[in-house]
Amino acid sequence: MAKLTYHGHSTFSIVTDDGTNLVIDPFFTDNPLFVGSLDAIEADFILLTHGHFDHIADVVPLAKRTGATVIAAFEIVSFLEGLGIPGSAQNIGGGVTYPFGYVKMTAALHTGGVQLPGAESVTTTPAGFLINFTSGQRFHHAGDTALLTDMQLLKGKVDLAILPIGDRYTMGPEDAVTAVDFIAPKVVVPCHYNTWPPIEQDAGAFKAAVGARAHVEVMAPGATYEF
Ligand code: NI
Ligand code: MN
Repeated sequence: MAKLTYHGHSTFSIVTDDGTNLVIDPFFTDNPLFVGSLDAIEADFILLTHGHFDHIADVVPLAKRTGATVIAAFEIVSFLEGLGIPGSAQNIGGGVTYPFGYVKMTAALHTGGVQLPGAESVTTTPAGFLINFTSGQRFHHAGDTALLTDMQLLKGKVDLAILPIGDRYTMGPEDAVTAVDFIAPKVVVPCHYNTWPPIEQDAGAFKAAVGARAHVEVMAPGATYEF
């Protein structure tokens, strides 16, 4: 079993069946929902859906301490390599096989920008991550995105789907229910909500709206879920 830990907002850790530590969208220090210490976060690979601060803020200290390889869009990886951080550049629609599994960047509809000091002129396109773990689990983190008809291409290919429900900056709960229809995962984990007042949502109401379509696992920050 792989172990998924929610750190609040859009930040997750995964320990794979073979003990590899993944961190998706490292936003710890200024994340109001994060409980714990950045110093205790382990990472062999860090995956960045896009460059907004609430997805990337702690990538440099985390990568420097752990020596992790960053998996992200070409432009973000190029910028981080300039800081001495090893990376594996990808782009939307492309996949790469790593020891822990095959990672494909999926389309997300959102705005670009890389909010790190010195990266002001870097432009890039946000994405999601479809991961086919070597141990068999099929996982998708949608990143920050609007509802996309392209999500129908994921139908039957995802066991556990992480979807934003916060509204305002991403799709809200109603569109996220349609995304569940499109993707048809077994398990849905909502994210990108309740971090700040502008994206407050009732995850229980979302779970009720999803109904029998899928199991909705509402994760409290710090909680873990095995899949
Ligand atoms: Ni964003
Ligand atoms: Mn965001």
